[in-house]
Amino acid sequence: MNPLQAPFPATRLRRTRQNPAIRALVRENELHVGDLIWPVFVREGENVEEPVPSMPGVLRRSVDRIVEAAREAADLGIRSMCIFPYTGMEARTEDCAGAWDPKNPANRAIAAIKQTLPDMVVMTDVALDTYNINGHDGFVEDGRIVNDRTVEALVKMALSQAEAGADIIGPSDMMDGRIGAIRNALEAGGHQDVMILSYAAKYASAYYGPFRDAVGASAALSGDKKTYQMDPANSDEALRLVARDLAEGADMVMVKPGQPYLDICRRVKDAFGAPTFAYQVSGEFAMIKAAAQQGWIDEKRVMMESLLGFKRAGCDGVLSYFALDAARLLQS
Ligand code: PBG
Repeated sequence: MNPLQAPFPATRLRRTRQNPAIRALVRENELHVGDLIWPVFVREGENVEEPVPSMPGVLRRSVDRIVEAAREAADLGIRSMCIFPYTGMEARTEDCAGAWDPKNPANRAIAAIKQTLPDMVVMTDVALDTYNINGHDGFVEDGRIVNDRTVEALVKMALSQAEAGADIIGPSDMMDGRIGAIRNALEAGGHQDVMILSYAAKYASAYYGPFRDAVGASAALSGDKKTYQMDPANSDEALRLVARDLAEGADMVMVKPGQPYLDICRRVKDAFGAPTFAYQVSGEFAMIKAAAQQGWIDEKRVMMESLLGFKRAGCDGVLSYFALDAARLLQS
């Protein structure tokens, strides 16, 4: 063969896939336990753990049990958790006052975790839906979700969480102006180190169904959330929302749901280079669980592949109901 002539094929990309060591050497992305945020549901009571039917393996726990679960998570290397409250109809009111009650189960859980495990990063949920009689994230007047009065309530809610010891405030409500308002209140209240992870690109998604069961919102919710959550058809709008929320003082941003919106994760990361997270929501979790229960997919492998996908799409971390299972696999 003439040595000056290019061999065929000129490039053999299979060369760098030939064995595990070479594959490890050229691997571009990796999931670490430190990338995971574990969401938990807290409810009233003592010594209570009840399953969420549409989310196999997920529990609603009383505060004492949440602390135990946090310990277990920490032992697996989990360093961040997110607290969501479950409320029955009796805890829901028109004025949503339970949302900023310093003694509500979410705030008690935050305080209890921080007391037991000071290094655990505790993130919150800021939205009125779990305390609202009608299941909406904001106040409803004459059938409309009103913005500015809701923002005032969200500020009170966020402050109560910061006072309970939360590290990261997570506004998931999609009202306009809430990041700036919360940031100002945190600064004025001496909480300048408390972070805000804004659910900046949150879509009006059918993937939230199992979560609404988990927090007791399915029965309460009247209508849909399309006047405040995003249209799944839009992408440029997500960039405008992220730009605005970063300018208002968000430290990190969330794309939600996750897997159907990996294109948004990538665009957001490329455009801003800010800490970017995806929420692998309840419906994504439930679909993997259900198919695995049928024996149609390998749960562990699909779980790890789905989580890695977020890293590849540019996310710094993932909020996932699989966090504990993934941590277990990463440890072994
Ligand atoms: C509401 C909220 C929702 C989720 C987190 N916070 C649902 C909604 O907007 O109705 C969904 C999370 C999930 O599906 O796992 N503030």
